[in-house]
Amino acid sequence: MKLSTDALLIGIAVLLAGNVQAASPYAGKTKAAAVCAQCHGMRMPATEAPFPFLGGRDVQYLRLALRQYRDKTRLSPIMNNIAGSLSDRDIDDITAYYSGLKP
Ligand code: HEC
Repeated sequence: MKLSTDALLIGIAVLLAGNVQAASPYAGKTKAAAVCAQCHGMRMPATEAPFPFLGGRDVQYLRLALRQYRDKTRLSPIMNNIAGSLSDRDIDDITAYYSGLKP
């Protein structure tokens, strides 16, 4: 009994640790809806969005673009401001959401 309880706790710990690491498209969706959607839209194709659409695009590309905006190695007055307030976690979550969108 003691052994199986330990095994269960280890299992839960591993699961939780995994959650901390992995980007969450669900959290990303909430963040995207709050911040990005007004310009980039939420669906694909984002015909309502006036700016480059992000849905279905390569996750590495999107991550890189956001880090560059945040570091100001890629310049855009709008995106430098917005990306400046994103954590690595936010970037991973949001890009996981957008890259996973299907037409
Ligand atoms: C106020 C409007 C606005 C908001 C809000 C906004 N963006 Fe942008 N975004 C832009 C504009 C304009 C560009 C094009 C900038 C440029 O020329 O580099 C852009 C470009 C981008 C690009 C690069 C696209 C490409 O094709 O290279 C990414 C990635 C991006 N935004 C992600 C986001 C994310 C994620 C959010 C939410 C956290 C967000 N944006 C919020 C206006 C916005």
